[in-house]
Amino acid sequence: MERIVSADPLTIERAARWIREGRLVAFPTETVYGLGANALDADAVARIFTAKGRPATNPLIVHIADIDTLDRIAQPTEDARRLAQAFWPGPLTLVLPKMPGVPDIVTAGGETVAVRIPSHPIALALLRAAGVPIAAPSANRSESISPTRAEHVARSLGPELEMILDGGPCDVGLESTVLDLTCDPPAILRPGMVSAEEIAAVLGKRVATGHRDGDGVAKSPGQMLRHYAPSSPLRLSENIWCEIPETGRVSILAYTLPPDSIRPGTHIHFLPKLPNPYAANLYSALHALDADHPDLILVQQVPDTEEWTAVRDRLRRASAS
Ligand code: TXA
Ligand code: MG
Repeated sequence: MERIVSADPLTIERAARWIREGRLVAFPTETVYGLGANALDADAVARIFTAKGRPATNPLIVHIADIDTLDRIAQPTEDARRLAQAFWPGPLTLVLPKMPGVPDIVTAGGETVAVRIPSHPIALALLRAAGVPIAAPSANRSESISPTRAEHVARSLGPELEMILDGGPCDVGLESTVLDLTCDPPAILRPGMVSAEEIAAVLGKRVATGHRDGDGVAKSPGQMLRHYAPSSPLRLSENIWCEIPETGRVSILAYTLPPDSIRPGTHIHFLPKLPNPYAANLYSALHALDADHPDLILVQQVPDTEEWTAVRDRLRRASAS
């Protein structure tokens, strides 16, 4: 049986049954593809860690279908309700005190749980059909580039993953913003396309961002520096057209045109200089560049402004060796 199946009412129903039976299913969300299991079934969740090669110390995000389910998973604060109202369904994950019914393996033994309602219609249909919350990390091997297409998942994860629901390319393209609401002020643990400014505007208070270039993020165990990385070395460059090495096979990711004299054989991939379409296509571009196994992937650094924060974060991690 082919692992990649086009998502339709029948395949979604089958995927939902598999989730209830404790099996793994990869499915599209608006951010990246997720590797899902019944969040209330500790054995099923354990299979996620095995399939990804993920350390047991790194907790998972619980995906829910509707706001009524939130109280079964977490203890939402007033701020949480406000943010859920404003941004769900969508690419914002809230870290909250957990409810006792959530298995320890989901939260890596911690007292908090990360939760979100995704906006992708196939993710929502799967969650509703399954009738259980779904724990899902990005559907890639730990520390490799996140998947934004079904074929990225198939290439990254082995045969232990039997079903990949294909919903086409993800339109946000970067993982959700992770916001810790168990501290004061609330803190962004992972920047995403929902920005600190937008969150602060809804809450009417300051939001801590420990994520500017150079800063470390303390509290999110998944935020080790090397992450999202291709297998070829990746270097970030401000003056990309002056820094192409004389030798070796170089692949370039850029948003401006080169001067007319570029070393022959250099492969260039262009993305638009606009944060949303750039983010939507970044991982696909990195997967494609990486598939050629060049000696070096040279990436044009993006602007140091608020709307590029999440992209800069992922590029920095991809370039960390
Ligand atoms: O967009 C997304 O968030 C995607 C889709 C599938 O929803 N999921 C995703 O999951 O990116 P993952 O496991 O690749 O990243 C989850 C991040 C990790 O950095 C993890 O450490 C952090 O969220 N996290 C999860 N639970 C947490 C908790 N209780 N406290 C702090 N950080 C947590
Ligand atoms: Mg991930």
